[in-house]
Amino acid sequence: MQKPSTPQELNGKFEGKDILSADQFSKKDIDIVLSIVDDMKKIVIDKGATNLLYGKIMAAIFYEPSSRTFSSFVASMQRLGGGFIPLQGMGNSSAAKGETLHDTIKTFSSYSDIIVMRHPEVGSTKLAADATDIPVINAGDGIGEHPTQALLDLYTIAEEFGEIENLTITFFGELAHYRSINSVTRLLSHYPNIKMDFVSPKEVDLIDDTRTFLKKKGIGILETENIQDVISTTDVLYVTRVKKEFLPPVLYKKIEGKYIVDAKLVSKMKKKSIIMHNLPRIGEITTDVDKDPRAVYLRNQMRNGMYVRMALLALVLGKA
Ligand code: CP
Repeated sequence: MQKPSTPQELNGKFEGKDILSADQFSKKDIDIVLSIVDDMKKIVIDKGATNLLYGKIMAAIFYEPSSRTFSSFVASMQRLGGGFIPLQGMGNSSAAKGETLHDTIKTFSSYSDIIVMRHPEVGSTKLAADATDIPVINAGDGIGEHPTQALLDLYTIAEEFGEIENLTITFFGELAHYRSINSVTRLLSHYPNIKMDFVSPKEVDLIDDTRTFLKKKGIGILETENIQDVISTTDVLYVTRVKKEFLPPVLYKKIEGKYIVDAKLVSKMKKKSIIMHNLPRIGEITTDVDKDPRAVYLRNQMRNGMYVRMALLALVLGKA
């Protein structure tokens, strides 16, 4: 069957669909994913693995470096009893000889049932999805989106607070090139009484597209360069990495080291609050914060990535 042009709204139906953008998700769709994440977590805790996806193969095609997203997708497929084709970096594939994205996708579609792809260009996962009839999951497209990260972030917030409502989420650092923000803000916009603060240097503040989206949705947002304006009222401190690879050296030098979370800053946070980071961190959070019980980045936030990706693979492959 010919797959319709992408991306499509999910409307509660995941089987065979591409997962490319947070825009595809309604509140009901997010609820479906998060409830299945609970089931996946239970499977892993109780018995480690299942054979739900026995006979299915995932091609993990990563043109950009990754530790967590790549390995959690691979671990997810293994825990669900499926197989995988691992392409972490394309140096040993025919992409290194100049093969086009289109032909690469056609090739791996011949051997697999689902493609998970990370690529440095915005919109590349849509091009991949249009080149194949098997489902494609966006594992990060340049500075565009990172929808699976956003889902695991939401799951972590729900796990920590019980409900996703009446919360202030503070996005902190270099926001202009941080693709997860474009996805997680869109997912959070479905929840009641969510306020979002954006704390960053002006040169790398929230991108216009996401700002306009949030304003249109009527979400209360506050933008400032000074974390002291909001630190005592935030519930979720969502720290980002200064993406050196996107910045001119002069700007990087100006920003580097200015947006740091340390124990002194954390001491001003509410007792019931959390500190998140997608990782990798390159000094944005000092290591003395790691032992603070509010710091979830090296704990459940990271591990939840595997449960969330198990849920998505099972849903999209029609086995959830
Ligand atoms: N959070 C995240 O996307 O990490 P990786 O770049 O290691 O996949």
